Amino acid sequence: MNAMSPPIPLIPDNAPFSAPQRAWLNGFLAGLYGAAQAGTSTVAPVEEFPWHDPALELDARLALAEGRPLNRRLMAAMAQLDCGQCGYLCQSYAEALADGRESSQALCVPGAKPTSRMLKALLAEAPVIAAPAMAVVKPAGRSVRVLAATPLTRNGSAKDVRHVVIDLADSGLLYEPGDSIALSAPNDPALVQALLVALQASGDEPVPCTDGVMRPLREAFAEHLDIARPLDRTTSLLGMAAAHPGDAAALRKLTDGDDDATPADADLLDLIAAFPSARPPLADLARSLQGLKPRLYSIASSLLATPGQVHLCVGIVRHERRGRMRHGVASSYLADRAVGDRPMQASITTSHFRLPVDAKTPVIMVGPGTGVAPFRAFLQEREARSVRGHSWLFFGDQREATDFLFEAELKAWLADGTLARLDTAFSRDQPKKIYVQDRMREHATDLWRWLQDGAHFYVCGDALRMARDVDAALREIAVRQGGLSESQSRDWIVALARQGRYQRDVY
Ligand SMILES: Cc1cc2nc3c(=O)[nH]c(=O)nc-3n(C[C@H](O)[C@H](O)[C@H](O)COP(=O)(O)OP(=O)(O)OC[C@H]3O[C@@H](n4cnc5c(N)ncnc54)[C@H](O)[C@@H]3O)c2cc1C
Ligand SMILES: NC(=O)c1ccc[n+]([C@@H]2O[C@H](COP(=O)([O-])OP(=O)(O)OC[C@H]3O[C@@H](n4cnc5c(N)ncnc54)[C@H](OP(=O)(O)O)[C@@H]3O)[C@@H](O)[C@H]2O)c1
Repeated sequence: MNAMSPPIPLIPDNAPFSAPQRAWLNGFLAGLYGAAQAGTSTVAPVEEFPWHDPALELDARLALAEGRPLNRRLMAAMAQLDCGQCGYLCQSYAEALADGRESSQALCVPGAKPTSRMLKALLAEAPVIAAPAMAVVKPAGRSVRVLAATPLTRNGSAKDVRHVVIDLADSGLLYEPGDSIALSAPNDPALVQALLVALQASGDEPVPCTDGVMRPLREAFAEHLDIARPLDRTTSLLGMAAAHPGDAAALRKLTDGDDDATPADADLLDLIAAFPSARPPLADLARSLQGLKPRLYSIASSLLATPGQVHLCVGIVRHERRGRMRHGVASSYLADRAVGDRPMQASITTSHFRLPVDAKTPVIMVGPGTGVAPFRAFLQEREARSVRGHSWLFFGDQREATDFLFEAELKAWLADGTLARLDTAFSRDQPKKIYVQDRMREHATDLWRWLQDGAHFYVCGDALRMARDVDAALREIAVRQGGLSESQSRDWIVALARQGRYQRDVY
């Protein structure tokens, strides 16, 4: 692919095809053109997952999976982010549920309750399959050390975003710009201690972990078990153990996912505190929890610029619920305790998110907030390779004075031509919010021209709101600037994605 790629042909709206036929043909043409431009002549027959798009609503995803086997309908109920927080990808989680290897329907974190309810409903219609004992395989990791976690946001910001620097040293880990790193962080020892106190446990009690190994309870809670997100089987276990009928009834409502069940969004400590009569054996309690999962972070550096290191841009999750501060497991560990601590286990997740092979192919990058991370990696890489121009970044955050992440570097790249254009949207610097998609609309003529010149379009950051709205803005620009109809603009986007020219790293 290069700047001279011919535009993808689209079947006109008035051609004698139904909408699904036209969409299929447009997709076929995109695949054909994408393959031809990649230098191949055949299009591999691959199963299509039309619902695998986080911008679609749950109902729309399910409609697209109508008539497919159970595992595909279950997949359509997932949030479609392949974020790994469930320990699988959307497809493999659905398959594990469908064939009984996985029994928990509440693992899809971004899909939250609507997804778990739909999974429950779909599975209730299906024949019951006996679930074999769950075996969670801990991903193999390499030891890395966190060198720094310095603030990127300034005093007065509503957020705490850190520039995290990780030493890869002898880990043997290598990466490309666009990849992510999976980090295994321990739970907060203060939370573990509070939990042990609430359970009246010493912490020395041996309990099983998800890898089958028995460990002292304190170590299991600290390093191996997810104490922040208890599963239905934990509330169910607590309900069966509850001596007080009121506790048992409330725990049943939580297990059933009732809207008014309380405490909502409970962690294990919330449940133990709220239901004092529910005290199952500690080994059973441990067995009911899921394993502590690694967290993924988009890499914000290029090995050419920072040899032997990974840099990250991490938003620290902290919020108050029921009078207690909640700290995101991995982000808080990175900010508060990782520097100078023992090594963490890390692995690289290779991504489809890649710079074009031909450096002259223009790139349009949309990365508000921590979504800027992979674009810093892209720009470092291009600077190191002395690639100038053909790059346009849309960045946004709350306030210019406090939240302009990597401001000095971005401005330096703009000055030396590594970055051809930088458009910013600081949402809270004026009464009416301005977002990156507003800047896209303001510069629609240029943006459309860049796309016609073969630009690759990248989006990174918030999946649920931003990526959806950016997608809508892109379609709107195709309609207004390109004269496409609504349905053509939809097909055009699909075609762009199939050519690898519309890539998203959203979470
Ligand atoms: C491919 C990919 C790339 C990613 N890249 C980055 C990146 O570059 N930078 C980055 O910062 N993150 C990134 N993430 C997100 C990251 O993986 C973690 O999910 C994030 O850091 C939170 O993890 P945690 O362990 O700190 O929080 P957790 O312990 O997992 O807690 C997070 C949970 O807290 C809850 N929560 C959060 N905020 C609030 C609130 N205000 N009110 C109520 N509840 C709330 C939500 O339920 C959320 O699911 C990426 C994710 C993926 C999948
Ligand atoms: N669960 C939550 O409540 C919550 C809250 C914040 C972040 N997050 C998650 O944290 C990650 C990144 O957070 P972040 O702080 O780096 O960035 P972020 O929350 O995405 O904020 C970056 C900028 O994007 C703006 N924004 C908000 N909605 C938008 C939309 N629909 N379209 C375009 N821009 C929009 C924000 O404006 P305003 O803030 O002024 O609206 C802000 O200026 C994401 O995964 C996000 O989902 C979750």
